[in-house]
Amino acid sequence: MKKEELTALAKQAMQNAYAPYSGCKVGAALLTKGGKVYLGCNIENASFSPTICAERSAFAAAVSAGEREFAALAVTGGKNGEIRGAFYPCGVCRQVMREFCADDLPIYVLTDSGIISLTLGDLLPHSFSSEVM
Ligand code: THU
Repeated sequence: MKKEELTALAKQAMQNAYAPYSGCKVGAALLTKGGKVYLGCNIENASFSPTICAERSAFAAAVSAGEREFAALAVTGGKNGEIRGAFYPCGVCRQVMREFCADDLPIYVLTDSGIISLTLGDLLPHSFSSEVM
């Protein structure tokens, strides 16, 4: 699947974001090695800390469906759902990704000026994972 298609799905997922407190709507699309796509959005909570990010929503959906092998992740977001600058995955999400993905996982961040292509290793260098345990 092309990065343009995967980021378009992330943008679509963003529409379902439940973000009444921050107003930041975020969507993620997670491509499996088998070619399936799992979507996620951020889900906020009045108690704030139970909030789950879009990326972790996508991983939760995929892993709950029995998936463990991932090919790429796309993410996008913006205040009031307006995509402007890059909404990079937060540190917690990067660590969750690392549980299932290697440093070479492609990550595509959709902005208003195009798609930024990175890897998980770019975002989380010198990571801690089960490989060192
Ligand atoms: N958020 C995500 O969905 N993904 C990230 O990687 C960063 C932050 C959400 C959580 C919260 O609902 C809102 O963005 C503001 O932090």
